[in-house]
Amino acid sequence: MTKILITGGTGLIGRHAAKLLCERGHTVRILSRRARPDVPLLRGLPVEYAQGDVRDPASLAPAFAGCDAAVLSHQFQNFPVENPKRNETFDAVDRAGTEHCVAAAQQAGVQRLVYISGIALGNPNPPHPGVQAKLAAERAVFESGIRAVSLRVNVVYAADDKYFPRLARAARWSPFVPIPGAGASRCTPVHVDDVARAVAYAVERTAIGGVVNVCGPDEVTWKALILAVAQAGAEGRRKLPMHIPHSLLFLAGWIGERLPTPLLSREAVVFATQFDQSCRSGVSCAEAFGFCPIGLDAGLHKTFGGGKL
Ligand SMILES: NC(=O)c1ccc[n+]([C@@H]2O[C@H](COP(=O)([O-])OP(=O)(O)OC[C@H]3O[C@@H](n4cnc5c(N)ncnc54)[C@H](OP(=O)(O)O)[C@@H]3O)[C@@H](O)[C@H]2O)c1
Repeated sequence: MTKILITGGTGLIGRHAAKLLCERGHTVRILSRRARPDVPLLRGLPVEYAQGDVRDPASLAPAFAGCDAAVLSHQFQNFPVENPKRNETFDAVDRAGTEHCVAAAQQAGVQRLVYISGIALGNPNPPHPGVQAKLAAERAVFESGIRAVSLRVNVVYAADDKYFPRLARAARWSPFVPIPGAGASRCTPVHVDDVARAVAYAVERTAIGGVVNVCGPDEVTWKALILAVAQAGAEGRRKLPMHIPHSLLFLAGWIGERLPTPLLSREAVVFATQFDQSCRSGVSCAEAFGFCPIGLDAGLHKTFGGGKL
């Protein structure tokens, strides 16, 4: 069995991957900025924690020491709203932080790298610092000389993510559902269990290399996705879309950037509303790993349906 370091192992994808990897008999160590994080999903599992920060190369050596594989699944706090004063940026954490992890992995003799990337990298328009940072991070991973896979993940939904469960709960009492902008950009959402499964296979099947897309089978607009989550949370009751105009979102982003702790930014508005995240080319989970992620209707029902939240 393999000893695996997971950066971002307390985060959404990282913790589900950590749980599955433990269940599959691997030894898991999680890098966290906190000394003793409490991750409810991982309580009772034999997970080790190493304190460190991807922006601080010296803190990474002990975390990577003795590991055969590493899953890099960190992103800066409050992503995608940067906080330059606290060095919480695409460039500092997503790019430079990944480069530091790659160097630490090389030094520790890690044999396998799995980078958790985003589907927007396949369609980097409009140009965006988040996509630039992740492309540079992916390059560092592939140029490391370590056998590597980059999983380009689509929009993830889960009962314990930061956004969709709140939306599903709010939909129980509100007839209206806020839609950022027109909600016309497209995505192919994927359930977190399928992302965790792709991570586990990417760690274990060391002959597989390169970029693999991790996408659900259904392509929808953001508007359709938000309404479907709201409807699943409200036990099937129809909901009315309430579009928030782009101009208002940008104004809120402009104001949000100026707060001592930014709550929103114009870059975050672009990231959330203007990327096409459809998944029409490249290697799929079925081709790389031999499984198809669950469909959206079944996945939303499993996650939010029948009063599950
Ligand atoms: N969620 C999605 O829908 C989605 C879709 C496509 C791609 N992705 C990509 O998948 C990856 C994981 O996303 P996620 O949604 O699972 O993340 P998340 O839930 O926001 O968690 C972020 C993780 O990063 C860690 N972290 C933050 N700053 C750090 C630092 N300076 N040093 C070390 N660790 C740090 C945090 O750990 P501590 O707080 O414990 O330090 C936390 O575990 C990211 O690259 C993201 O862009 C996510």
